Amino acid sequence: MSTHAAPHDAVEVILAKRDGHELSDSQIDWVVDAYTRGEVADEQMSSLAMAILLNGMQRREIARWTAAMIASGERMDFASLSRPTADKHSTGGVGDKITLPLAPLVAACGVAVPQLSGRGLGHTGGTLDKLESIPGWRAALSNAEMMEQLESVGAVICAAGDGLAPADKKLYALRDVTGTVEAIPLIASSIMSKKIAEGTGALVLDVKVGTGAFMKDLDRARELAEVMVALGTDAGVRTTALLTDMSTPLGLTAGNAIEVEESIEVLAGGGPADVVELTLALAREMLAGAGRDDVDPADRLADGSAMDAWKAMVRAQDGDPDAVLPVARESHVVTAPTSGVLTRLDAMAVGLAAWRLGAGRARKEDPVQAGAGVRWHARPGDEVSEGQPLLTLLTDTPERFDRALASLEGGWDIGSEAPAVTPLVIDRVG
Ligand code: URA
Repeated sequence: MSTHAAPHDAVEVILAKRDGHELSDSQIDWVVDAYTRGEVADEQMSSLAMAILLNGMQRREIARWTAAMIASGERMDFASLSRPTADKHSTGGVGDKITLPLAPLVAACGVAVPQLSGRGLGHTGGTLDKLESIPGWRAALSNAEMMEQLESVGAVICAAGDGLAPADKKLYALRDVTGTVEAIPLIASSIMSKKIAEGTGALVLDVKVGTGAFMKDLDRARELAEVMVALGTDAGVRTTALLTDMSTPLGLTAGNAIEVEESIEVLAGGGPADVVELTLALAREMLAGAGRDDVDPADRLADGSAMDAWKAMVRAQDGDPDAVLPVARESHVVTAPTSGVLTRLDAMAVGLAAWRLGAGRARKEDPVQAGAGVRWHARPGDEVSEGQPLLTLLTDTPERFDRALASLEGGWDIGSEAPAVTPLVIDRVG
């Protein structure tokens, strides 16, 4: 007879949540740990995840679940750095390249940015996939390399190591294939366990709302933001959130190399106005959280120091910041069928098209095409003339054009009157 009988069993925990009860601290600690160790099976955890999606969790349960995921792995510590740290997390959007100009910009303002990023899955792109289009650039760094680069350059964008919140890695992969991604307790604990374990001092969350986001409506996005801000604050991380629009894709590009190109334009003092606006808004939140709101990030974009930090950051990870970026072999132009005003460009339609052109992956082991993606030549509110290029589709594999074009059907409208102007930054939480 075993002297180490488990304090709970998976079926008991599943039944409790299925029947709408709150899970105890001990049930949560046990189930997260036992799942990470392989004692709770995938089918049991997927059943529990579905019960959580359907019946929700109290704030206490979410906080405990997050703590249990943090405890499943290592915690990083940046206290020995000579500057304060701040990080940003976006819940994911189309054309969302903001991390690329933001990290070096904030570093140029005197705050270190330890940005642990992921690869894209589905219609939203991944920051690492974008940076990997730069010849030579390397995503995998050891903890020692990361610390050294944070001290010398002030910004690192790299892959999260396997040691950080391993419970989340396993659970996220399971949620992805069991229809349980969209549960607020699971999204909040997934994001915040990684950010708290990463050890940043301040954090700004960019919670996307709209057709191209996980959260399609404002009330749910606000609830997610409030839960995450509370989790961060309670863990001693100065956390705020911006709720930002993701019904229209950001900037003028969605893909990999073409998003790097657009980010470099922003760092050079140009670039699309919405990308600049959101980069500066998030930079200001990060600087305030790190106690450096005396610095205006707009000055650092204008004086070239953000661009210097970008080049240093790329070089430190073996990339060549001056190399020519890969270009797709084939292109297909969609022209405006009539003259008028572009009244709508749907983020999900553009994201799906970029994904189908090869910019994203269907399974996590698939490769991505560096040059693939979509460029749009007008944004909602812009006048267009019949026959002018509206969108350019880019890929190395032209057999992908048909499916990409199908996903763009109904994804944009041309009308006679300019649409109402909607704010990019909708609200702030924290
Ligand atoms: N991003 C994450 O890291 N986790 C989620 O659950 C959703 C988005």
